[in-house]
Amino acid sequence: MKAVILAGGTGTRLLPLTSYINKHMLPVGRHPMIHHGIETLRKAGIEEILITTNRHSAGMFIQYFGSGAELSVSLAYRIQEGAGGIADALQLARPFIADGEKFLVLLGDNLFEEDLTPFIQDFKEQQDGAMVLLKEVDDPHRYGIPVFESDGSIKHIEEKPANPKSNLSVTGLYMYSSDVFQRIEEISPSSRGELEITDLNNLYAAAGLLTYRTLSGWWMDAGTFESLKEASARYWDIEY
Ligand code: G1P
Repeated sequence: MKAVILAGGTGTRLLPLTSYINKHMLPVGRHPMIHHGIETLRKAGIEEILITTNRHSAGMFIQYFGSGAELSVSLAYRIQEGAGGIADALQLARPFIADGEKFLVLLGDNLFEEDLTPFIQDFKEQQDGAMVLLKEVDDPHRYGIPVFESDGSIKHIEEKPANPKSNLSVTGLYMYSSDVFQRIEEISPSSRGELEITDLNNLYAAAGLLTYRTLSGWWMDAGTFESLKEASARYWDIEY
């Protein structure tokens, strides 16, 4: 399966560092943050990866990763112009994915302890729709939080809710088929002017087509100073 890593954005929660460096290139242990995500994907059997980023950062990604050959993956790059949001960046993957093809989307600041192979296998066997991975968190107001139906399926996802209905967060790993590109055309920019990944996932949820699995290993969104520090400690001894 191919993967798309979304590595644009402004990283405002990590200012002033992100005034001169893309968040995903900040050091986490001995490597840039996004390197760990690429390793996680490679270990799960993913060899073809598209990285989307902005024009200011692309040079640094290419300088560090090149073609991906040293990491035993094949990397391609696309540039997002403007700040159109996560779902807008995802549209850049359209030429990379064939009709009917399934693929994985990873937010470049997300770090996973667990081997993702079983989840990818489950999604390959899933007939339709999309799959998200959930993880229990202490601070649910920071994330997308699902509201469940009585049968345990996801009714919809609330983005950064003031009164979260559960402590399970939607992590930044999503699995879709190429039909996602038509669905992106159905969503409109949010109040902050961005195409939101949660609005996209809610289209699947409304159609009863959003499945999930729950992670048992740790998961982190390293997009804040607190989580960046924790991530760095966890990865301190890891070298590729
Ligand atoms: C994004 C998603 C959110 C998800 C989170 C995971 O939020 O919008 O639903 O829980 O990633 O990292 P962001 O970190 O862009 O604010």
